[in-house]
Amino acid sequence: MNKTNQNIRKKPAGWMMALLLVLLSVSGAMAQGNSQTETTLLIAVIVVGIVAVIVLLVSIYTLQVLNVILRTEEERKAKEAGVEPKSAKSWWQRFLKVVNRRVDIEEEDTILLDHNYDGIRELDNHLPPWWTYLFYLTIAFGVVYLILYHVTGTLPLSEEEYKIEMAEAQAMAEARQAESPAEEFNEADLKLTDDPAILESGAKIFAQQCAVCHKADGGGSIGPNLTDDYWLHGGDIKSVYNTIKHGVPDKGMIAWEAMLSPTQIRDVANYVKSLRGTNPPGAKAPQGELYEGE
Ligand code: HEC
Repeated sequence: MNKTNQNIRKKPAGWMMALLLVLLSVSGAMAQGNSQTETTLLIAVIVVGIVAVIVLLVSIYTLQVLNVILRTEEERKAKEAGVEPKSAKSWWQRFLKVVNRRVDIEEEDTILLDHNYDGIRELDNHLPPWWTYLFYLTIAFGVVYLILYHVTGTLPLSEEEYKIEMAEAQAMAEARQAESPAEEFNEADLKLTDDPAILESGAKIFAQQCAVCHKADGGGSIGPNLTDDYWLHGGDIKSVYNTIKHGVPDKGMIAWEAMLSPTQIRDVANYVKSLRGTNPPGAKAPQGELYEGE
């Protein structure tokens, strides 16, 4: 085996390696989000697809080789018989000729125009049919467009479209407002309430955000007991609201205004106030000053 032959023999091995690598990386990426059966199925589909493409390419190549052999044979026979061999054009060439209405170079004199400008002569080439029909199509489209958008006004122009979308967005915003009018809450209106909706929302926030430090029952752990009558920063609803909003950063109580909306702070403040006197077991000793109002 000589050197060039060896080089040719090496190529498929490199191909296979690259293919294997692609397969592995694809399956790896897929395996993250999919179950094992799905991954196996996917790999199978990819392998079958690749094999199909290879088979297709090989058959096309073989067909072409066969074609060339047949044509050479025909030409040889024609020469032997002393007749002109008929031109064998591939279907693709024939297709291009039809689609472009092309005139072969040998027949060019049929479309040559009469005039001669210092030796420069003009061919009256046809417009390619595909181009012509596309052009007619654009005209038809233009007419339909003009009628629909400008004559009958059946479809909205850009400006109207914009207005319609804005109106839809407005309607959606209003619907959202109607669903939660509480978002309109103004701090000046803050007052103690036992509205069950507010307390329920506050309880949820408390369980999610506050229980880590104040315990789920408000009895206190890192943060103080919130169920007694003693308060470090004031026990009225406005003080509680402000403590939650601004926090006590030096002492480890977070300023919640960055994370909770005013409405949410109102809800959780009311919930905290509702814990008064629940006396949970293991509650922390009272801290701060006695507050008995409300
Ligand atoms: C990281 C722990 C931590 C989290 C989470 C936390 N707090 Fe606090 N909280 C504290 C600490 C510590 C204090 C005591 C501050 C001080 O000593 O001045 C406190 C104080 C308070 C006070 C004042 C009590 C008083 O005696 O005046 C209220 C009210 C309060 N927290 C409510 C909440 C609410 C409501 C949440 C949830 C939105 C919350 N806290 C989340 C640690 C926390």
